[in-house]
Amino acid sequence: MNTHKPVLLREVIEYLDPQPNQNFIDCTFGGGGHSIVILAKTLPNGKILGIDANRDSLEKFKIQNSKFKNKDRLILINDNFRNLKSIYANNFPYPVSGILLDLGLSSMELGDPERGFSFLTDGLLDMRFDQQKHGLTAGEVLNKYDLENLIKIFTEYGEAPRGKAWQVAKAVVAARKRQLFRTTFDFSRVILQVFYPRAVERGEITMATKDFYHKRRKITHPATQFFQALRIEVNDELGNLREVLPSAMEILAKGGRLAVISFHSLEDRIVKNFFRDGAKAGQLKILTKKPIGPEEIERQENPRSRSAKLRVAEKR
Ligand SMILES: C[S@@+](CC[C@H](N)C(=O)[O-])C[C@H]1O[C@@H](n2cnc3c(N)ncnc32)[C@H](O)[C@@H]1O
Repeated sequence: MNTHKPVLLREVIEYLDPQPNQNFIDCTFGGGGHSIVILAKTLPNGKILGIDANRDSLEKFKIQNSKFKNKDRLILINDNFRNLKSIYANNFPYPVSGILLDLGLSSMELGDPERGFSFLTDGLLDMRFDQQKHGLTAGEVLNKYDLENLIKIFTEYGEAPRGKAWQVAKAVVAARKRQLFRTTFDFSRVILQVFYPRAVERGEITMATKDFYHKRRKITHPATQFFQALRIEVNDELGNLREVLPSAMEILAKGGRLAVISFHSLEDRIVKNFFRDGAKAGQLKILTKKPIGPEEIERQENPRSRSAKLRVAEKR
């Protein structure tokens, strides 16, 4: 679970179409899955600016690839991609043929209990991509936000029905009076008590057990949408995306391409609207009339890919 399989790799490469000596920006470097292929296609002199808010991912990549031949063609920067303009201005004096955003989190991050992204393992409720920076952790959001704000993030960012969002928010406020939220299981326990009070009471659900749902119900775990909401709030993910899209278009050379992989409808809508407005204004051409999803084989081999949607536009 600790390696990350790049999603829609073939499709991204097809659309970005990297050629020898072209330069690219990978705004979400992660484990470098997409970048490594781009580096191979842009030999001998093409360069990549790789950005990631998670310092550990970049450090891990450097250690694992210490003998990596293409090192001098790869510039890695630990920062938030919403600062793309200044990152580019300060580190990458090259024209850019393509920019990639592969949003969300990597399997390494999801599988790391210290990051608190997963409701399937118990870990501190952190969820910040960048743990070095300040900003509220997921635990602090649960412990500090008032009822209305909790309902708002659960409905807007988790797309939870208002009734359930209200119930979970109320349960959070009641639970934190007894004991503050500290771990992922503290939160998933509260969610499960709202959704399945009798099963929890009877001890049929011990904790965030995947099996309970997979075997008996084959439905999405109810914690999914609430964990998603917290993650989006903690990292201001939608704000980051709104900020980076115009910067990316500005940086791209004419004819350069912007590829964005999103994993839920909130992100996809922002990308879709940005492309639509840009096309209307004659600033870009949309290359993917409909978003591209994974083929059946990828869906089976990599369940994380199932919700992925790729949209690509070309700068005019
Ligand atoms: C889905 S993973 C990318 C995986 C990568 N394409 C690969 O194949 O190895 C998304 C990465 O983006 C990073 N990330 C998320 N939001 C970010 C932001 N606002 N700025 C910079 N990096 C961010 C995460 O830390 C994570 O490593």
